[in-house]
Amino acid sequence: LSSIRVDVSGVEVGTQISVKFLGKPVFIRRRTEEEISEARAVELSELIDQSAENPNKPGADASDENRSLDESGEWLVMMGVCTHLGCVPLGDGAGDFHGWFCPCHGSHYDTSGRIRKGPAPENLHIPVAEFVDENTIKLG
Ligand code: FES
Repeated sequence: LSSIRVDVSGVEVGTQISVKFLGKPVFIRRRTEEEISEARAVELSELIDQSAENPNKPGADASDENRSLDESGEWLVMMGVCTHLGCVPLGDGAGDFHGWFCPCHGSHYDTSGRIRKGPAPENLHIPVAEFVDENTIKLG
C-alpha cells in the first residue's frame, strides 16, 4: 500500500493545508483552542453520524477526541470529500457550524468535520494517518 509523508512544520494554528493522497484531497488542519473546545462541547446525541469514521480507531464513537490525530486535538486530518456525492467542501470556518461547508447541495460540517446539517450522511472520513515525528504526518 502506498503512503506519503507530509511536512506540517509550516502550518500555523488556525490554518489548513490540502494535499493529494491516492488521487483525493486530504485536509490537514491545525485547529485553534476555540475550534477544539467547540468540537468537544458537542453531545454525541446531537450528531447525525455517531461513528468516528476513523480507521485509526475502529468502532470508536464520533466524539472529537476520537477524530483528532493528537491528544490535545490540535491536528485534524480528514478526506476532503463530501460524504454526499463527493464534492470538495470549503473550509476555514465555513458553514453554520464553523467548520466546512459543501456548496454542491449544502452540507454543513462542524469543527471536527462531523456532518451537522444537509444531505451528507456521514462525517468526513479520516484516512489512515500518524505522526512519525513532531513535524511529519504519514498518510496511509
Ligand atoms: Fe456535498 Fe452534495 S456533494 S452536499
